[in-house]
Amino acid sequence: MIHKTYKLQHNLLEKKHNRTIHTDMAPSAVIKVAALSGSLRKYSYNSGLIRAAIELSKGSIEGIEIDFIDISTLPMLNTDLEKNGTYPPLVEAFRNKILQADSVLFASPEYNYSLTAPLKNAIDRASRPQNVWANKAAAIVSAGGNFGGGRSHYHLRQVGVYTDLHFINKPEFYLKAFEPPAKFNDDGDLIDEEAKNMLKQVLLSLQTFTLRLQGKN
Ligand SMILES: Cc1cc2nc3c(=O)[nH]c(=O)nc-3n(C[C@H](O)[C@H](O)[C@H](O)COP(=O)(O)O)c2cc1C
Repeated sequence: MIHKTYKLQHNLLEKKHNRTIHTDMAPSAVIKVAALSGSLRKYSYNSGLIRAAIELSKGSIEGIEIDFIDISTLPMLNTDLEKNGTYPPLVEAFRNKILQADSVLFASPEYNYSLTAPLKNAIDRASRPQNVWANKAAAIVSAGGNFGGGRSHYHLRQVGVYTDLHFINKPEFYLKAFEPPAKFNDDGDLIDEEAKNMLKQVLLSLQTFTLRLQGKN
């Protein structure tokens, strides 16, 4: 797929020189991002962050496709139930979605100073052989209490060591969800413009790092 920015630059060059330009500049790839929310709550703020990221990817950012992956139906891991390296169909479908993705966006609420059980279960599920997280770029965002859910990031980063995830370091995104002015509406949609802009910076950083890891920039 030809990247719109590339096409625009190319057209401008052609206009400037009044001739057809043949450049070696490769069009940027579109990256596929798997997005997971650690909260199963219907009006979850963290799920709201993912919906806001999807909106950005369809509007002001080019070259990113975000797929919101539901982890609520994944059964709790019990290795006794694994049959010759195969997994229940729901789990296989989930693992396949992660495998197909170029990178991962985690919206990670903080439960008791850590990541949530549903998110850890999902990570464990996809880490069973073959570990499908390996070599993927990742970013963490969160909304929560006084630290904005930030303490969950550090446990999640630790989990990413053995699973071979590569997290962007900056910018860090922790949103203090309960401090005025309201950051979310009653449906859990992000309504704070400053937070949306910061989220955009996270996505741009994830995009750059994903392409760098893949040797495409
Ligand atoms: C079991 C449990 C533990 C929690 N522990 C913390 C915590 O350690 N730090 C914090 O800031 N908020 C904590 N919270 C509050 C959540 O961060 C808050 O409910 C947040 O809105 C959850 O994200 P969500 O809106 O996406 O569901 C906890 C909530 C629950 C249910």
